[in-house]
Formats: sequence, structure tokens, C-alpha cells
Amino acid sequence: MLKPGDVLEGRYVVEGSLGEGAMASVVRVRHRALGSQHALKVLNPEIAAIAQLRERFLAEGRIQAQLRHPNIVPVTDVVTEGAAGLIMELVEGGTLEELIANQAGRLDVATICTIMAPILDAVGEAHHHGVVHRDLKPSNILLGRTRHGHPRPMVADFGIAKVLTSQLQASRSATKTGVRVGTPLYMSPEQIVNITQIDHRTDIFALGAILYELIVGHAAFDDDNEFGIMSRIVAGNYHPIPNNRPGASPELERCLRRALATKPEERYPSCDEFLAELMRAPKVAAGRAEVQQSINSEVWLDSTPESATDYTSQEARAARRKAENEAMKRPAEAPEKIAPVDHSGFELIFFWIPIGLILFIGLLALGASR
Ligand SMILES: Nc1ncnc2c1ncn2[C@@H]1O[C@H](COP(=O)(O)OP(=O)(O)OP(=O)(O)O)[C@@H](O)[C@H]1O
Ligand SMILES: [Mg+2]
Repeated sequence: MLKPGDVLEGRYVVEGSLGEGAMASVVRVRHRALGSQHALKVLNPEIAAIAQLRERFLAEGRIQAQLRHPNIVPVTDVVTEGAAGLIMELVEGGTLEELIANQAGRLDVATICTIMAPILDAVGEAHHHGVVHRDLKPSNILLGRTRHGHPRPMVADFGIAKVLTSQLQASRSATKTGVRVGTPLYMSPEQIVNITQIDHRTDIFALGAILYELIVGHAAFDDDNEFGIMSRIVAGNYHPIPNNRPGASPELERCLRRALATKPEERYPSCDEFLAELMRAPKVAAGRAEVQQSINSEVWLDSTPESATDYTSQEARAARRKAENEAMKRPAEAPEKIAPVDHSGFELIFFWIPIGLILFIGLLALGASR
């Protein structure tokens, strides 16, 4: 176990604990040379001892490091000496799990959408790069703050936890290592019945389950035990939405129904379409500027009065993704024939003329000597 004062790879000094998960613990570290603070997620020693899991953990971290989005927790470094760990941005406002425990069931439609919209945009960006999260749940959404004081949801742990869990189960090491397998509350039906057929729509389902929880205040498929939860998920049997919730509206319920459809093909085909429908809900339209500010990454990076009220940039991003997706589907065009480069002029000047001159001078010198 890491303790304050421990130094990793000569670069990071441990300052204190940030939290514990099923397979890893997260500590606050300071970069010795830069003085910057970061979060370090280290695998528990008994898991890190399994080489395959350790490698997979670091590999998934490298994938997350490629994703660039203001609502995705950036992975900026790895440590491999002694511990196996990923260095991430430090996000200090708690998790969505805590926010739900304190406030869910009391949030209004616009607030729910300001939380959901950036998450959908972030997960949509990951999907665009072919990365499926597979373990979206409130504890994997950290809450930061923008410099304007708006909540800034940050998606963490792309692929990491689920990959480890399934590999542990496959290697039957879970019981040996005493690992608690995560909650099934946000698992999609296809994750329960056929693990091989998983694509980005599994994330759409989990996002629907998160939206449900923000509206209602408890999990959509909650039950007495894991078997009960899984049976409800596979049967599409979520608890009816009580109509006294300020976040409940016919439009949001329609979004939920589609996101939580049992068959993947009946769900939203993309996060962008899920988000677009959420934005059309009348109560969201009224607070659209605020929701817009929560999704418009440019606002955080470069806040200008125009971009703060402009919804088009988000639409433009969605249009860009669509165009890029279309372009990727088109058959590759035959590569342009490249004309061979004609070096003859160079050869004449730099090779044959000097050789000719040398021979000529040589012959003259030979003639003179006779
Ligand atoms: N980048 C971060 N910045 C600040 N705190 C973090 C960061 N990442 C994780 N944490 C804290 O560490 C806790 C444990 O995270 P971890 O991902 O190990 O477990 P989990 O997501 O809660 O559960 P599971 O193990 O099922 O994934 C989180 O709940 C959060 O409070
Ligand atoms: Mg996590």
C-alpha cells in the first residue's frame, strides 16, 4: 500500500488517499519537478501480480491517453516500477454517485441535462474513435468545476474496470484474489447474456440508466440481489417513474425508453442522436444556453461572448463526426499515380560532365607526358 511520502520512479511523491475501488486505489501525487498535482490509480498488489492483468490495465490506460475531450479524464503518464499505475488529471469535486445520493429525485430537467449533455458529448467522441467505455456508472463520472463555476462532469476509467473484471473471471482468479466484482446495475442486457456482442450501444444503455437515476433518485433496475437486478435488465423491466419528480417529463421519459431498449438496434444509434433528442425537450429548450455552456468545450478553453450562447458549435461537431463517419464508410479511392522523378538533368550536371572532364584532362596529361 502506498503511503504519504512514498516516491514512485523518482518523479511522483504520494501526498494522500483519494479513494478505493474494487481493484485499485487512487492517491493524490505531486510531480517532483513540476510541482503539479495528479491522481494516481494503482492496481492492488494481488491483481498487479497477475502479469496479464497488469499489462491490460496499462494498455487500456494508453488508449484513454489518446482521447482528447474536456469531459474525459486525461491519462498523462504511467508508472511501472514497483506499482502498476496510471497518472490522471486530479478531479476534486466528488463523483456523480455522491451527487445522486445527495440530490437525485430533486433535480429539474435543465440541471439534469447540463449534467448529461457533456457526458454524452464525451462518450460520443470516444465512440467516434472506436473506443467503447463498457463500465459507465455514476462512480466513474467525476465532477470538476469550470472556471465559471459550472459543474464539469469528467468520464473516467475507459474500458479499464470491465476488462479487468472479465479477465479475472476468465482466469478464475477472482475468488483467489478476493476481488469484489462491480455492480451489475448499469450493465446492458447483451453484457449479461452474450459478452462477445458488445458495441457502443452498450454505453448508450448505461447512459440511459444514469439518466434514469438522475431523474428518479434510485437505480432503474434496483432489486434485492444481483440475480434480481440482472433478470430485470434482461427483461427490460425498470421501475416506473414516479410522477412527482421535478426531472420527469414525457420527453425525457421517451429518451429513457429508447436508451434503455433491450435490443441494441432499438436504442439511439449514437450519443449525438441521444443528445439531440434530450436538447429538444421543451423544458431544456428554455435553459438551452446553460446546457449549451456545459457541452461547449470551446467555452471552457476560450470563453468568448459569441461562443457562450452559440449552440451551433456543438451541432457543428456532431456534423463533423457524421461527415467523418460517412467518409470512413466510402471505399478508399485508388491512390493517385505518382510520376517517377526524372533525375537525368542532375545526373548529367553532377556525374557525367565531371567524369568527362577528368578523363579529358587525364588524356591531355598523358599526351603531354609523351
Ligand atoms: N482522477 C481522479 N481525481 C480524483 N479522485 C479520483 C480520480 N479517480 C478516481 N478518484 C476517486 O477514487 C475513487 C475510487 O476510484 P476507482 O475507479 O478505483 O473505483 P470506483 O470507480 O469507485 O469503483 P470500481 O472499482 O467498481 O470501478 C473514486 O470514487 C473517486 O472518489
Ligand atoms: Mg472508477
